[in-house]
Amino acid sequence: MSYASKWSNIDVNKRIVLRQLKNYCDLLKWKNYKENCIDVGCGEAIDKLDDMIQFGREHNSHEKIEYHTMDILNDRMIKNMLNQFDRLFSFFVSHLIPDTRTFLTNLHNILKLDGQMLVITPSDTIFKQVSSELYQDERWLRYKLQKPIFTDYTANPVHHITGLLQKIGFKVDLCESNKQFISVHNFKGFVAAIVDMYQNLGALPTELWQVFSEEFLQKCREKCNNLGEDEKYDMPIEFPVFIATKLS
Ligand SMILES: C[S@@+](CC[C@H](N)C(=O)[O-])C[C@H]1O[C@@H](n2cnc3c(N)ncnc32)[C@H](O)[C@@H]1O
Repeated sequence: MSYASKWSNIDVNKRIVLRQLKNYCDLLKWKNYKENCIDVGCGEAIDKLDDMIQFGREHNSHEKIEYHTMDILNDRMIKNMLNQFDRLFSFFVSHLIPDTRTFLTNLHNILKLDGQMLVITPSDTIFKQVSSELYQDERWLRYKLQKPIFTDYTANPVHHITGLLQKIGFKVDLCESNKQFISVHNFKGFVAAIVDMYQNLGALPTELWQVFSEEFLQKCREKCNNLGEDEKYDMPIEFPVFIATKLS
């Protein structure tokens, strides 16, 4: 099964995003129905992985939606998209990008003046903790995977992100960090989708994928008291949500 198919079966992120959209829709100042919108990191727009883009084209095609394989860190591509979007969404992507400042600067560059973005990104999960632990082991350390995944937002993500946004030229409409438990029904499938994504992002040589996946799953299980494969798990997660408007 492809990474995109595995990911489409996971509903944890969808539940979080829908709840936050409901909470904050009043802060999104839509001007009309003709706004040019972009979803960075899959969905309706761009993703670094071709597999995600193909999946979007096949399963969510619409005459008004374009899909493009694109790395949001690619300067050449960004230059072709300057000041184009009224509204930008990015869900569960920022933590995978090693340099938060460059990520946010690129989002700023592709927004129009007065354009607004809504970003949700996990800052702490058991996956982050397991990654950090695995990368203390020399076998994995040499691949330096821990750098590009789970960017460190420091102990105070709201303060850190607010400061960055203001320096880049955004007005911060909202920045808050949520700590919640979210129920996961298919924990093994969830972990498999997460590991598949790391692998597809080019983090590890193919011959090590299997052993890495097994160790990752095992450590995740230990973190949740050796949960059985079919048991529901109430997973703790911390995720900052921020809405910001391009000022200059
Ligand atoms: C955890 S998934 C989230 C997908 C979707 N936004 C959601 O909420 O279900 C993260 C996605 O970010 C994409 N991604 C990671 N780094 C990226 C980059 N530099 N440019 C564009 N997309 C990237 C990955 O390929 C992956 O599909």
